[in-house]
Amino acid sequence: MSDQTSINVSDYYDTDTFKRIKAFSEGRETPFLVIDTATINRQYDEMTDAFPYANVYYAVKANPAPEVLTMLRDKGSNFDIASIYELEKVLALGVTPDRISFGNTIKKSRDVRAFFEKGVRMYATDSEADLRNIAKAAPGSKIYVRILTEGTLTADWPLSRKFGCQTDMAMDLMILARDLGLVPYGVSFHVGSQQRDIGAWDAALAKVKVIFERLRKEDGIELKMINMGGGFPANYLTRTNDLKTYAEEITRYIREDFGEDFPEIIIEPGRSLISNAGVLVSEVVLISRKSRTALVRWVFTDVGKFSGLVETMDEAIKFPIHTEKKGEVEDVVIAGPSCDSADIMYENYKYGLPLNLAIGDRLYWLSTGAYTTSYSSVEFNGFPPLKDYYILAGDACESVRECKTAAGGVRAPGKNVSRCSNQSSAAAHLQCDDA
Ligand SMILES: Cc1ncc(COP(=O)(O)O)c(C=O)c1O
Repeated sequence: MSDQTSINVSDYYDTDTFKRIKAFSEGRETPFLVIDTATINRQYDEMTDAFPYANVYYAVKANPAPEVLTMLRDKGSNFDIASIYELEKVLALGVTPDRISFGNTIKKSRDVRAFFEKGVRMYATDSEADLRNIAKAAPGSKIYVRILTEGTLTADWPLSRKFGCQTDMAMDLMILARDLGLVPYGVSFHVGSQQRDIGAWDAALAKVKVIFERLRKEDGIELKMINMGGGFPANYLTRTNDLKTYAEEITRYIREDFGEDFPEIIIEPGRSLISNAGVLVSEVVLISRKSRTALVRWVFTDVGKFSGLVETMDEAIKFPIHTEKKGEVEDVVIAGPSCDSADIMYENYKYGLPLNLAIGDRLYWLSTGAYTTSYSSVEFNGFPPLKDYYILAGDACESVRECKTAAGGVRAPGKNVSRCSNQSSAAAHLQCDDA
């Protein structure tokens, strides 16, 4: 019996949005990702409405496309940056360094120096060696210390074991930061990406409160900021509460721990802003059975773990899959196109796909806007990186900018094609000037 039989696309996209994406995807060679930027726009507004007191630092790693960064820049977002490469991208778009935080706790000292020289003054840390590097390469900067959190079991993509330190060490690091001439500024945590248990924020905030109070009382250090990271939900097969419920609960936790006078609060959403704006369109390459009597069919698609679907590792993220074929469904194993046996997306969790599904049919992987293009390999088995297209909401018309990744995996600036399509017939494109 299938765990997932059929899905309702309307649970994931409103009718117009899906129609627009679908129309855009007609006739294009698979596999590719289509992002509807209007959805990101709306989700950003929902995020800031839900957390009106927080400063948003978009986690660039979720989707670093210029179309996404530009839109978020114009909406006033700040940026959580993981590497010098992301920094260069964001600065090239005219984002000022006061809107940037270097959120990776693992960094080379020459990169810290480069960030400092570009004007970035806020850094995460979770270890003494890193802190000493920052003190040398970025003197006088604001430091926030990342703490370990629980909640690994309830996050679909846990992060906490690799990053963060215990509470006692966090306090030691803040004291050392002060002694090294840095500004001990705040505490951060990430409760794990796609965290389904809202209580994970409660436990983390309780730890932060202890750190704030003890540093104030025992060491005269007044911390000012809490960075609550990401972890907010996208819409996949496994259900979550809606963002509003997360925000109401989390706000209540902050109030319980810190009273009405909130410290500065930062959030770093990635997945929750971007995932539901994207649809990955793939094609069935092969359908087979492993024996004459085998009950389970294997469905091989032209997209796989190495071309954007890394988060199917251990079947962690269960993307909703839509096909236009209807009728009786049967359990399938879903695998990618490469000659690597790790390239199986779902085998234990049984997806049900219609028996009349055929080679050449399209599969639409819903909620795939985040952590797909950025994870896609450069040339595994010779396959190029995942192509991505961005539907830009224009004033006069629906503007579609094609941003194909050029051969060799490098996005070619200036080579984009801009097109306008009128909304009633998105397939009929008029050529416009390059944006
Ligand atoms: C430091 C940091 N902040 C924010 C995020 C974004 O998290 P999410 O995609 O769950 O919103 C990540 C994800 O890895 C992260 O490492």
